[in-house]
Amino acid sequence: MRKLFGMLLQVRLAVAVIAGFALAFVAVGVLIGMPPFAYIVIGLLIAAPTLFYIYKPRESALTNAKALTVFFGATVATLLIIQFIPYGKDHSNPPVNGEPAWSTPRTRELMVNACFGCHSNSVEYPAYASVAPISWTVQSHIDEGREKVNYQEWNSRQREAEETIEVIKEGSMPPRYYTMFGKHSEAKLTDAEIAELIAGLLATGGMNEND
Ligand code: HEC
Repeated sequence: MRKLFGMLLQVRLAVAVIAGFALAFVAVGVLIGMPPFAYIVIGLLIAAPTLFYIYKPRESALTNAKALTVFFGATVATLLIIQFIPYGKDHSNPPVNGEPAWSTPRTRELMVNACFGCHSNSVEYPAYASVAPISWTVQSHIDEGREKVNYQEWNSRQREAEETIEVIKEGSMPPRYYTMFGKHSEAKLTDAEIAELIAGLLATGGMNEND
């Protein structure tokens, strides 16, 4: 341990750069709602060879340039390797099993625009959802979203559907990351659309606790 610490002190600049990258990665990950396992898999794949290299006995001195080369090499290799992890690659949808009796076609349209990206069996995957770890992030939102409420599995009880109007009113759905960076602009409802949607959902039934 002490030896490792000594080694790291020799390459302070490299350690600072690596820490900066790690922090930026975590910050972006939190912002886009990246699932916890992504940090673990990617962190381990990059850290293991980097630490191994820094720690291994050597003739010539360890330098910042060498440490950074190994770190960036491990990063590139990791980004390539994780593309082979199958999670999030299968973009097929389960069959549709019934929908609520929407009060109007417009109510359904607004729900499709704002919610079906995660709470339906008609998910349209964007192209970037094929690249890990973005694909893992997108898939984990869809998995979690469907588990909570699936507006196209209406043949079985969707208990959390009672929260629908509430989450729209409080603005917690769609999640903020969904409409960040100009993505999914159709899901970013205006105040007028939100009022329209809530009125339509009140007339649909089953979308709040009072029904
Ligand atoms: C980007 C994917 C995504 C979109 C789009 C989305 N949701 Fe969600 N939703 C989730 C996830 C993930 C959860 C579970 C974790 C959480 O609560 O944040 C969830 C949870 C819920 C819940 C359960 C209660 C709760 O807060 O946990 C309801 C109800 C819900 N969403 C309704 C909606 C409605 C209505 C819309 C459209 C206005 C919508 N969601 C849009 C991903 C999404």
